[in-house]
Amino acid sequence: MCLLLCTCLGIQAQHKSGDMDRFIDDLMSRMTLEEKIGQLNLPVTGEIVTGQAQSSDIAGKITRGEVGGLFNLKGVGRIRDVQKLAIEKSRLGIPLIFGMDVIHGYETIFPIPLGMSCTWDMKAVEESARIGATEASADGISWTFSPMLDISRDPRWGRVSEGNGEDPYLAAEIARAMIRGYQGTDMSGNDEIMACMKHFALYGAPDAGRDYNTVDMSRNRMFNEYMLPYQAAVEAGVGSVMASFNEIDGLPASGNKWLLTDVLRTQWGFDGFVVSDFTGISEMVDHGMGDLQTVSALALNAGMDMDMVSNGFLGTLKQSIEEGKVSVETLDQACRRILEAKYKLGLFEDPYKYCDLTRPARQIFTPEHRQVARRIASESFVLLKNKDNLLPLQKKGTVTVVGPLANTRSNMPGTWSVAARLDDYPSVIEGMKEVLGNQVNVVYAKGSNLISDAAYEQRATMFGRSLHRDNRSNEELLREALVTAAQADVIVAALGESSEMTGESSSRTHLDLPDVQRHLLEELLKTGKPVVLVLFTGRPLTLTWEEEHVPAILNVWFGGSEAAYAIADVLFGDVNPSGKLTATFPKNVGQIPLYYNHKNTGRPLEEGKWFEKFRTSYLDVDNDPLYPFGYGLSYTSFDYSDIRLSSPVMSPGDDLQVTVTVTNTGKRDGAEVVQLYLRDLVGSITRPVKELKGFDKVVLQAGESREVTFRINTEMLKFYNYDLEFVYEPGEFDVMIGGNSRDLKKARFTLTH
Ligand code: GLC
Repeated sequence: MCLLLCTCLGIQAQHKSGDMDRFIDDLMSRMTLEEKIGQLNLPVTGEIVTGQAQSSDIAGKITRGEVGGLFNLKGVGRIRDVQKLAIEKSRLGIPLIFGMDVIHGYETIFPIPLGMSCTWDMKAVEESARIGATEASADGISWTFSPMLDISRDPRWGRVSEGNGEDPYLAAEIARAMIRGYQGTDMSGNDEIMACMKHFALYGAPDAGRDYNTVDMSRNRMFNEYMLPYQAAVEAGVGSVMASFNEIDGLPASGNKWLLTDVLRTQWGFDGFVVSDFTGISEMVDHGMGDLQTVSALALNAGMDMDMVSNGFLGTLKQSIEEGKVSVETLDQACRRILEAKYKLGLFEDPYKYCDLTRPARQIFTPEHRQVARRIASESFVLLKNKDNLLPLQKKGTVTVVGPLANTRSNMPGTWSVAARLDDYPSVIEGMKEVLGNQVNVVYAKGSNLISDAAYEQRATMFGRSLHRDNRSNEELLREALVTAAQADVIVAALGESSEMTGESSSRTHLDLPDVQRHLLEELLKTGKPVVLVLFTGRPLTLTWEEEHVPAILNVWFGGSEAAYAIADVLFGDVNPSGKLTATFPKNVGQIPLYYNHKNTGRPLEEGKWFEKFRTSYLDVDNDPLYPFGYGLSYTSFDYSDIRLSSPVMSPGDDLQVTVTVTNTGKRDGAEVVQLYLRDLVGSITRPVKELKGFDKVVLQAGESREVTFRINTEMLKFYNYDLEFVYEPGEFDVMIGGNSRDLKKARFTLTH
């Protein structure tokens, strides 16, 4: 049918951009109003649950030309069959695009994005997206709802696990790397898929950290602290954008013309299409913006092009056009954007481009992909504490592994791994035994359930991520663990969150280790044996007690399908950890929001003090985080020289070179993320005390020194002033360099007029 279509249209659907307009002009001239509206409709299959609503009569809608794309369908054979239905049974045979949340891998799963961001390794980020695209496209997927680029400073919010931390500069670098990985050069290859920048915008800043809650911030904060990653994605050529659920300036993003058209298209030049989030359009009824017809018209007129699951466009746009609430031109514009995306993906040339039934067996979950995922997982781990170099452990004797996260496969990949093979990923003890063989006697005891509240555990272990709650009493579980621990040379406590304690609709107000796990840890420490905490978490937790009492803490986030192997690799020293935090760990929830790039205020607290009346501070805790942004230890140590400036003065248009010498002062080779921060000391508006403006991950052999140089230019000094002009301002700047955002070498330079 498609070949017939191209022939009867008399136009070969060549992959040259010049032909695209003529091809789409001609196709749209043959489309009815209903068929144009149909391209704007994105139903869900429902077999993978990522929202509450269901779509109905999908096959019927497809044959009537009322569907533009479909998502959450897994399996290339099934996708091919649905595509065949669209091509052969609908009047014009327009191909569908098939979407899925390929967030951190497809079947080979990489660390959750927050963990991935802690690698500070853009090659690794790109490689993980490339493998995700290769595997997803091998299974028929042509569109991923990724990267998620929401900056968040609030670990109560569960989707902090899905983002890239609190810093806009790092998140922008990650955005570029992921889009390169997904879309490749031009999406012409059948292993290149269209990416989707989400959630536009500011979804990571809900009041009280409660998912879907109101977002309200100044335009100044938006553009200086949250928008950069989204803009970077547009500049990187992302093919689509997903609007967020939340309101901004009192208008839901889904119906916010300032956001979806003035900023996204007019200011930033985005030329792809905008899709709503799951029922994001119909949810504007609950936002109080009117009935379904009203909010659907509001969305289309604001710049929304595709309706995910609401059925608002399909159900009401024809009436809105007849009533003059929506123009045909606006409908045509949205329809064209979606047809252009399909054209760029090559789906008109070959609707079965992603339907090669032989690819899955040779390209999905391969040993090569798994090896890459294992390496990257170990790079994502953050060593938070290592008193007396307890780690790495020796490969000998008996190791007792205890905890609710020690013997689970389904929790290893972490949240937002919708295509995961949950039974095929080794648990911590399985991975450890496989890596260590008979060198170490690995014994296991559960020790505790996830949390004492069974109903809470049920809410936290949905979507097949069971921890197999043990019906024995806490005392029995503890007793068994202590008996098992008695034979140990060292105890490894695999504790923390379940994978679904973060992710969507997983906000929490208490961020301590769950009650029974904390008790288990206390009792394990009383044995007097060395205890290593292997922490599973999708967010910063409040670990003040653990920092004080536990000798070694390795944060493994949720490391993906190969995490168990990577944990063994790092614990026993085959890999030296190098991860650095990209989200601040507060001492308690009361400090939230707590972030490194904060303002100085008019009553700053003197360095080193934790309280002073009439200065910004608390009565009951200091202002500092437990672990700061950029922090992470290694099995070796690094020393930084003082900063050397190429000049103390910089004139606009010039570059300034800043150099440090970094030395590996330990006995092991290791990688160090050298971080560059700048501070604009005086501005026309208040400016942060520091902002990340560069980083360089260097591998140094034991004893090796290396010069690390950054070039500073005026572009790096720009910010949005009170009138939202993107400017730099002459004056004094501090330049700071170090291995985290707290312990920094400092120098000062002046930017002249
Ligand atoms: C969800 C999420 C979004 C996801 C979409 C499709 O509600 O908010 O990130 O891409 O629905 O699954």
